[in-house]
Amino acid sequence: MSDSPVSTHDPKAPEESAEPTPQDQKKMEQAYAQMKRKMSMQEIGKKIKHKVMVLSGKGGVGKSTVSTGLALSLAQQGLSVGILDIDITGPNVPKMMGLDGRRLHVESGRIHPAQGHLGVKVISMAFLLDNEDTPVVWRGPIKLGAIQQFIGDVEWGDLDYLIIDFPPGTSDEPLTVAQSLPDIDGMVIVTTPQDVALLDSRKSITFSESLKVPVLGVVENMSGYTISGKAAPGTDIEIAAPAGKTLKTTSDDEGKFSVTLDIFKEGGGKSTAEEFGVPFLGALPFDPGFVRGGDDGVHRIVSEPEGESAIAFAKIVAALQEQIVDSESVGLEII
Ligand SMILES: Nc1ncnc2c1ncn2[C@@H]1O[C@H](COP(=O)(O)OP(=O)(O)OP(=O)(O)O)[C@@H](O)[C@H]1O
Ligand SMILES: [Mg+2]
Repeated sequence: MSDSPVSTHDPKAPEESAEPTPQDQKKMEQAYAQMKRKMSMQEIGKKIKHKVMVLSGKGGVGKSTVSTGLALSLAQQGLSVGILDIDITGPNVPKMMGLDGRRLHVESGRIHPAQGHLGVKVISMAFLLDNEDTPVVWRGPIKLGAIQQFIGDVEWGDLDYLIIDFPPGTSDEPLTVAQSLPDIDGMVIVTTPQDVALLDSRKSITFSESLKVPVLGVVENMSGYTISGKAAPGTDIEIAAPAGKTLKTTSDDEGKFSVTLDIFKEGGGKSTAEEFGVPFLGALPFDPGFVRGGDDGVHRIVSEPEGESAIAFAKIVAALQEQIVDSESVGLEII
């Protein structure tokens, strides 16, 4: 209101002073910080050769297990690898990587990742929490700002691969990452063979289209449980499986036998991938060692590098690397 007794500012009057107001100053500082962060994100984008997002529609299907497994399996090849744990409300990558209770090192305003097994660099919100039992309850914009900061302010150095682990679902986090980090190679979708998980992974596949990030493939986790044993050579063995089924096998010349129980169902991940015309990267067995490894901080690949699960991961990684050579990401506009 021009006739307001308290208003002294006439918008038509010529600018008397170029002195910015504190608000202008603040806006300028914010714009500068945002620009610096954007440049830093572009720079980081160039220093990291490949960026892979790990998503699932449903919670608890094994994204973090797969993210850490992919990272470690790639590191076993001698590649330099990092994991970015975007799960702000329930970050558990540090625990799986033997980095529980670790704090991040900050130097000249840059955050330095912690180094876990096989030299894998890890950044997780868990490093910033005072107490792992306290859940983080953040409003959307603060959470998204923290993600941008995590991407822009981290000193990863040169990396061959950055694996990004997300919370479940098609939420804001993958969108923020896709808008912040240039040249993402694509996403890996983790599912279990159950119908509900498969239904949700179909949503993730559709979601990838809106992110303009290609699906590099589907991983079927907790796919089957292998029982191995020994009996007299040539013994017919019958094992009572779930759903009233009986599995039959015969021990070999050395008396060894092994059968795989499909604890949930079998092949759902593969058929979903086929239905949507996306690659199937492979299946991971149900392996109680993952649960133990998650709790005591020694990942399965580290405790048993030649074991069934490590071999399954190596196959999945080989299939993933094949897709990455082929993939050409369009990507969202970086904001
Ligand atoms: N192949 C497997 N065999 C046995 N246990 C597994 C397997 N994969 C994951 N688990 C176990 O299942 C639980 C959930 O796995 P994980 O934390 O990786 O899932 P997530 O999808 O990341 O969960 P969230 O949605 O909460 O982030 C963990 O206890 C993990 O050890
Ligand atoms: Mg997780």
